[in-house]
Amino acid sequence: MVTIERIEDFRNFFHTRRQGEKVGIVPTMGNLHKGHLALVEAARKNCTSVVTTIFVNPIQFGEGEDYADYPRTFEKDQMKLNGLEVDVLFAPSVDEIYPGGPDHQTTITVPVLSSILCGSNRPIHFDGVATVVAKLFNIVQPDVAYFGEKDWQQLILIRTMVQQLSMPIDIIGVPTVRENDGLALSSRNLYLSGRERPIAPILHQTLQELQGEVSKRVKTFSALEGDAMRRLRKAGFEPDYVAILDASTLLSPSKFTQSLRILVAARLGQTRLIDNISAKI
Ligand code: PAJ
Repeated sequence: MVTIERIEDFRNFFHTRRQGEKVGIVPTMGNLHKGHLALVEAARKNCTSVVTTIFVNPIQFGEGEDYADYPRTFEKDQMKLNGLEVDVLFAPSVDEIYPGGPDHQTTITVPVLSSILCGSNRPIHFDGVATVVAKLFNIVQPDVAYFGEKDWQQLILIRTMVQQLSMPIDIIGVPTVRENDGLALSSRNLYLSGRERPIAPILHQTLQELQGEVSKRVKTFSALEGDAMRRLRKAGFEPDYVAILDASTLLSPSKFTQSLRILVAARLGQTRLIDNISAKI
């Protein structure tokens, strides 16, 4: 694996050798865990050339969020990626991606999808994600890109951006990797205190129960969402939302809906956790 920090070096190194290759990209912010590595493994299986990116993207963090404290473990990450036979690790600096500073950037907004659910609590977040991912796509020019289902709204947002901007890239969703007790792996789990950690899996349990209730068709979706919010509050969470939506548009289910997704975001102490699960229509 080679590690490259400059866009020009990446282009010189990579684009001379990409003829006939199927290039897969796995964008990350580092602090890699088994969830990230599942994306890399999926890319390794299906592509001839795999590029992983590590970039803690300042413009997707709001004021008071954890940009400065975000865990940065570059050398450990490099070792993990080496073991998975990644071809190139692209790890640019903030100056390289945002010369002249992160302000006054051309910004991509995906209408509706960037402002609902997590977007209503984190107003600039999804513009920051869409903008940096579009930049990484322009630099790497992948055929396929891998994103985790754990961040379902992000996966749908990127899929929509690629369709609407006519980018010739397949967006593949990879199932969420979980701890044995069901908690979805996340770099932010390390913020959970010893008292909070055993409570955290209740988020996934609540989604599993909801999945069962949705298939029974006894209560309305909004009644079920209300039940789940109450259950989470009782367990010690402060839920931002529980929502049963069309899986591919994230709009309210309609007669055209082919599959459902149940999405949740909730704070446990200082830590904001998100998760989601499929449900049958
Ligand atoms: P990051 O949080 O580092 O996640 C990188 C990728 O790993 C995302 O596609 C995310 O959905 C996936 N991922 C994280 N935890 C996972 C888990 N438990 N199981 C499966 N996949 C998981 O998401 C971002 O970075 C950024 O927003 C980024 C897309 C890189 C843009 O800056």
